[in-house]
Amino acid sequence: MNYRHAFHAGGFVDVVKHLILTRLIEYLKLKPAAFRVIDTHAGIGRYDLTGEEAQRSPEWREGIARLLDHDLPPEAAALAQPYLDVVKGENPDGGLKAYPGSPLLVRKLLRPQDRLFAMELHPADAKALSALFAGDIQSRVIELDGWLALGSQLPPKEKRGLVLIDPPFEEDGEFERLAAGLVRAHKRFPQGVYALWYPLKDQKERDAFAAALRETGIAKMLRAEVMVRAPAHPPRLFGTGMMIVNPPYTLEGELKVLLPPLTAILADNGRGTTRIEWIRGE
Ligand SMILES: C[S@@+](CC[C@H](N)C(=O)[O-])C[C@H]1O[C@@H](n2cnc3c(N)ncnc32)[C@H](O)[C@@H]1O
Repeated sequence: MNYRHAFHAGGFVDVVKHLILTRLIEYLKLKPAAFRVIDTHAGIGRYDLTGEEAQRSPEWREGIARLLDHDLPPEAAALAQPYLDVVKGENPDGGLKAYPGSPLLVRKLLRPQDRLFAMELHPADAKALSALFAGDIQSRVIELDGWLALGSQLPPKEKRGLVLIDPPFEEDGEFERLAAGLVRAHKRFPQGVYALWYPLKDQKERDAFAAALRETGIAKMLRAEVMVRAPAHPPRLFGTGMMIVNPPYTLEGELKVLLPPLTAILADNGRGTTRIEWIRGE
């Protein structure tokens, strides 16, 4: 496990992923019943943008820093507000020194009745995340293989919830593991909302992933993709994708408002491309 998220924290991938995550949680909060968020590849929760790794990498400057420097149109700004409030809350003196990873963002958005279960396999990262949530009865950090959690942690006892699967994609076969993991998880918790992150680097891999998911027979899958540059050879990350299973009925409309102006802010050429489409309907 060589992957270190500190190099990528707050980059365009995180911004898009965390905004979608926020919209999913805000929807779950519309009903009073408790829900649980299961974050299978959680990271350390809070990233120091003044630290060595973040300083060596320009990613957050081309991600969250750009978003904070630009105004979204009013309707999109309203949808981004809960996410931006958490980011700003992590930087109480203004400026941008810290960035909240998915477990910290989720935790800040939860109500008292909701729970977060976060899995992280890297021992040092799991320790850092445990320290961040020490004494917090609403969150639990488990040093565990996130793929195993899709069996052992599902279904949650609340019977309502969201599963974020955000693997590092540092090994071959991650797309296949993602599709197989969804099938296993969906059998145990078919009514759950799932958000599966994937990189846009190789068009063939992306298309094969969508085809494999269609073949599972699982209904209601919406794909949201943001491309910030043109595909290149040799392959280089050109965009970010999220496959959402059982999305709230409001999500497609929200993403159509939010993602195009966000993409223009994050794209290298000031335009970029957004794609929001159903892989499978009902
Ligand atoms: C892309 S990062 C997660 C970022 C985080 N979800 C966020 O949005 O802030 C992937 C994380 O998964 C961890 N990891 C790698 N393999 C894992 C596994 N099999 N199970 C759980 N965590 C794993 C890595 O140490 C890394 O912290």
